[in-house]
Amino acid sequence: MEQWVYLNGRYLPMAEAMVPVEDRGYQFADGIYDVLKLAGWRPVRFRDHMKRLRESCEGILISDIPSMAEWESILAELAERSGLSRSLESQCILYIQVTRGVAPRNHLIPEPQPQPTICAYFKAAPHYTPEQRAYGVAVSAQPDERWLRCHIKAIGLLPVVLAKHAARKAGAFEALLVRDGIVTEAASCNVFCVKDGAVFTHPEGPLILSGITRGIVLDAARRLGIPVHEQPVPLSEFRKADEAFLSSTTMNVMPVTVLDGVPIGTGNVGPITRAVAAEVEAIIREELEAGVDLGAGLVASSQVGK
Ligand SMILES: Cc1ncc(COP(=O)(O)O)c(C=O)c1O
Repeated sequence: MEQWVYLNGRYLPMAEAMVPVEDRGYQFADGIYDVLKLAGWRPVRFRDHMKRLRESCEGILISDIPSMAEWESILAELAERSGLSRSLESQCILYIQVTRGVAPRNHLIPEPQPQPTICAYFKAAPHYTPEQRAYGVAVSAQPDERWLRCHIKAIGLLPVVLAKHAARKAGAFEALLVRDGIVTEAASCNVFCVKDGAVFTHPEGPLILSGITRGIVLDAARRLGIPVHEQPVPLSEFRKADEAFLSSTTMNVMPVTVLDGVPIGTGNVGPITRAVAAEVEAIIREELEAGVDLGAGLVASSQVGK
């Protein structure tokens, strides 16, 4: 895939896409982002991602961003230039970032506000191994040191960069974030555990990012008749779970079988995790097959329920 970047109304090869040093995203992490997955030219849950993008912008007082319909045409043009395959077998990731724009360095939000710096590009979807899917991954409990507006998908990611680094150094795949003894989520995914046949996950609110895939997991559990409790789970209880799993746009569902070097439950991928993972895949496949390509009226289409 050729890497083309949409940057403030222009389409540029990656090497030519430059942002000024005084961009507030660069100097203050004053911006937000979103990550979508596409099969061919069809994004998974486009409306949900666009809604979250808008709400993240509103959360940091940025208002001048493209409408959903404008995004659709920007992204269709970008897909064309990037030579994106239309085959539903071909998956990729879309990264979108909005910063407050360029202004002389000063903590105060400039008034009037500068034009936001808006960029987007497609990139290859990360690869997860069949072993990770079959045997699950390990997580390492790390302190959740983020700010108290985690529902905003802010680009200031240092706390999770450091947490994930610490988890990797401890031999784990992901950091299980713990605030005041409660498991919130992971560095870049939502977290679920299973006890006595029911799924538990942290409720939505300022302590977690409300993952789009988390929403699909809840839909999947509902379809399967599996009870879900959106309630805080202490780390001490999480350690006693029968099963655990992660969810994110790039992974869908990833089983977790080890916490801090100790097996969770039997240490194997459990039946609820397997069922939810398969149902999430089925929901995504159904939605994509019934979906509409970027640029073909995706936003206007009544077929796009989500
Ligand atoms: C902190 C955090 N939680 C959860 C998620 C999962 O969100 P989604 O399912 O929308 O990818 C992400 C994704 O980047 C994340 O960064």
